[in-house]
Amino acid sequence: MEREPLVQMEEITVEFPGVLALNKVPFTAYGGEVHVLLGENGAGKSTIMKVLAGVNTNYSGRIVYKGQEIRATSVEEQRARGVSIIFQEMNLLKNLTVAENIYMGRHPMKVSGQVDWNKMNADARSMLDMIHSDISEKALIADLSVGQMQMVEIAKALSFKSDIIIMDEPTSALTEKEVDALFEIIAKLKAQGVAIVYISHRLAEIMRIGDKITILRDGQYIDTLSAKDITVDKMIQLMVGRDISEQYPKEDVVQGPKLLEVKHLNQGKQIKDVSFHACAGEIVGFYGLMGAGRTEVMRAVFGADPYDSGEIKIHDKPVKIKSCEQAKRLGIALLTEDRKNQGLILEFSVKDNIGLAKLDNIMNNFGINAGREKKVCDDLVKSVKVKTPSNNQKVKLLSGGNQQKVVIAKWLNTNSDIIIFDEPTRGIDVGAKVEIYRIMNELKKAGKSVIMISSELPETIGVSDRIYVMHEGRITAAFDNEDVRGLTEDYVIAFATGTKTHIPEQAG
Ligand SMILES: Nc1ncnc2c1ncn2[C@@H]1O[C@H](COP(=O)(O)OP(=O)(O)OP(=O)(O)O)[C@@H](O)[C@H]1O
Ligand SMILES: [Mg+2]
Repeated sequence: MEREPLVQMEEITVEFPGVLALNKVPFTAYGGEVHVLLGENGAGKSTIMKVLAGVNTNYSGRIVYKGQEIRATSVEEQRARGVSIIFQEMNLLKNLTVAENIYMGRHPMKVSGQVDWNKMNADARSMLDMIHSDISEKALIADLSVGQMQMVEIAKALSFKSDIIIMDEPTSALTEKEVDALFEIIAKLKAQGVAIVYISHRLAEIMRIGDKITILRDGQYIDTLSAKDITVDKMIQLMVGRDISEQYPKEDVVQGPKLLEVKHLNQGKQIKDVSFHACAGEIVGFYGLMGAGRTEVMRAVFGADPYDSGEIKIHDKPVKIKSCEQAKRLGIALLTEDRKNQGLILEFSVKDNIGLAKLDNIMNNFGINAGREKKVCDDLVKSVKVKTPSNNQKVKLLSGGNQQKVVIAKWLNTNSDIIIFDEPTRGIDVGAKVEIYRIMNELKKAGKSVIMISSELPETIGVSDRIYVMHEGRITAAFDNEDVRGLTEDYVIAFATGTKTHIPEQAG
C-alpha cells in the first residue's frame, strides 16, 4: 500500500525584490522520517520551510497537508495544523525567562483567570528534562549562551507536540552532548510517527540521522535521494554543482614577530592562568568544547570584558586594554560568534554594516566619501562572496550564512593586525567555508595574526599553524607547527574534555 505523505508541496515559488528565492520547488515529507534539506547559503532552504510554517505567505504553488489542499497564511494557523519550526535565527525574548519564552502567548491559566506560573515552570522543566538540559526554566534568556538558547528553541518546538517539526540548523551552537540528546529525541519522535525536516551544514550529522535528502541550489530543486545512496562527497558535489578539491587550504608563510602575547590571564572562574601568543603570518587555532572559555579569553583581550589579572603585550609593548575602542586602535579585530546580537545591525544595509567597524577608513575631512565607501564595500562583498541583490539590502533579509559573511567583510574593513575569528564558519556552507579559509590565508600572507576559535576539529587541524586547546578556562595543550601535522582527533579531544593535560607553553 502506498503511504500517504504528511505534506506535499508542489511548484513552490517565492520571489523577493531582486531575488527569485524558490523556483517551482517540490517537497514531500512523510511521518516517521527525517528529511534533510541541503544546499549552499542562500539556496532557499529556510525560505521553503518558512512557507510551510506560515511565515512566508507570499508564495505560489500548492500545499497538500494530510490529504487536504491548504493555504499557509499564518504561523498560528500552521501551528494549529501541527507544523512547528525551530528558526535558524533565534527568536527568543531576552528579558523573559526560559519558561515564559517556551509558553509565550499560551501561558497555562488557573480557573481564577490568572497565569498559573507554577504549572508553566513545571511544564517547562519537563520539556527541558526531556532533552537532558540542565538550564534553569527560570533563567533569563539574556544570561544564556547561544548554545543554551538553541536548546530552549528546541524545547519550545517540542512543546507544541506537532506532526511535523522543522529544525533549521538546530545544532550550530550545540555541544556534542547536546547534539546527542537532540538526536535521541529525534529518534523518539520518528518512532511516534512525527515528520522531521532537518536543515544543517554539518554533513557528517546529516549522514547520521537523515533518511532522505533533498538538495536545492540557487532556488532550484536538484534532487531527492535516499540517505543510504549518498556519500559526503556526492552531497558536496550536488550542492555546489562542482567538486571541491581542497577543503582546508593552508599556505606556507614564514612566521614573523609576536604581535600578541598574553601571560597569566585570569578572570573569575572563566579564565584561569591563560598564556598564549600569536605571530605575524600565522593562523592560531583555539579548540575546545562549547563553554571552555575561549570566547571569554578573546573578549578580555578585545576589551569587551574586564579581566582580574594578567599581562597583555601588543607588538611587544605592555598594554592595559580597557575598551573595545582601545583594542581596535591597537589593531585588534574580533568577529563575534553571535552575529544576531553582537556582530550586525540587522535593520541596516550591507553597506552600512560594513562601514560600521571603522568609519574613518572611508571618511575624509568632509564626512563620508560616498564613492570611496562604495568601492571599499563592493570589493569586500565580492571578496567574501556575499549573495545579495545589492549592497543596500537590509542585512536581516539575507540568508543566515550570508549574514555571517557580512560580519567578516565588516571586520576586514578595519585593517587590523590581529584578527580574531570566533566560530567563523558556523552555519556556513562547504563552498563558502573554503572561501573563508582562503581569506584567512590571505590575511596570514599579508603578515597578519589570525586567531580562530573553532569547535570543529577537522577545521582546526586543517587550517591552523598552531593550536591551543582549552578546557574549563585553562589551556590544556599547545601544539606547535610540527605537532599539528600529525595530530589525530582523538588525541586533541582528550585535552578538550580534560581527560589529558600537558604543560602548555612556558609563559615567562
Ligand atoms: N525576507 C526576505 N527578503 C528578501 N530576500 C530574502 C528574504 N528571505 C530570504 N531572502 C533571500 O532568498 C534567498 C534564499 O534565502 P534562504 O534564507 O532561504 O537561504 P538558505 O538556504 O536558508 O541559506 P543559509 O544556509 O545561509 O541559511 C537568499 O538570496 C536570501 O537573501
Ligand atoms: Mg537558512
